[in-house]
Amino acid sequence: MAQSYRVAPVCAEDVPDVMKLLKKTFYIDEPLNEAVELCDENGICPELDEYCTHSLLEGLSFKAIDQDDNIVGVIINGVSPLKEEDNGNDLLSQARRCQNPKFQKILYILARREEVSRLWEKFPQEQRLVEVKVAATDQNWRKRGIMNALVKETEKITEQKGIRLLRMDTSSAYSAMSAERLGFMCVYQALYSEIKRDDQPLIVPKSPHLYDKVFIKKLF
Ligand SMILES: CC(C)(COP(=O)(O)OP(=O)(O)OC[C@H]1O[C@@H](n2cnc3c(N)ncnc32)[C@H](O)[C@@H]1OP(=O)(O)O)[C@@H](O)C(=O)NCCC(=O)NCCS
Repeated sequence: MAQSYRVAPVCAEDVPDVMKLLKKTFYIDEPLNEAVELCDENGICPELDEYCTHSLLEGLSFKAIDQDDNIVGVIINGVSPLKEEDNGNDLLSQARRCQNPKFQKILYILARREEVSRLWEKFPQEQRLVEVKVAATDQNWRKRGIMNALVKETEKITEQKGIRLLRMDTSSAYSAMSAERLGFMCVYQALYSEIKRDDQPLIVPKSPHLYDKVFIKKLF
């Protein structure tokens, strides 16, 4: 296996390979997706396809490639408002009308992050931020600093765009470690076992992924 990797922006011709990587990583082993067994046996989940591709070509996403130009890591980033718009597309409304009961549970967890973290109150001067939406590294390349490198690249482009805040929500204990390593501040955390609807925990991923967290880094 090649030993080193380099980082580059994601471009349109990367989309099939990025999706291939995500289907063998994020789709099955991101802690929430794994816990609800989101994908069917063929790795098909249209809701996740939409979620992943939505921001992919905004010009803020990066890939890690090995010496043979294979994509071995990806981070998908997009610009978001601090406060969701009141247009029926907020996460809570999306959760309420979602027809896929597994994806619906995930949406309720994402909606709770908005409701409790209340970023617009914490950062009233800011209108928008860049948000890390997806991070995934090939199993054979994990724990070698790829995610940390992709987040650092995201910090650079965010600053270049004149955007002060970078947001990273973490369901994985490892992405939370990345956020902590890079000096992000945790603005929301909840034990999954305590995030409930109708008195039942929505999703409880396996250890060590015990906490749902939202991190913010102020870049300048
Ligand atoms: C989360 C994920 C993207 C991390 O990618 P990675 O390239 O392995 O991350 P890095 O090597 O940059 O490591 C980031 C931090 O996590 C730690 N870490 C990563 N994997 C770890 C493991 N298996 N055990 C313990 N620590 C681990 C690293 O030591 C590092 O912390 P440090 O800088 O303090 O040493 C990867 O595990 C993955 O693809 N998981 C499945 C999809 C997913 O969960 N995505 C994130 C959703 S929020």
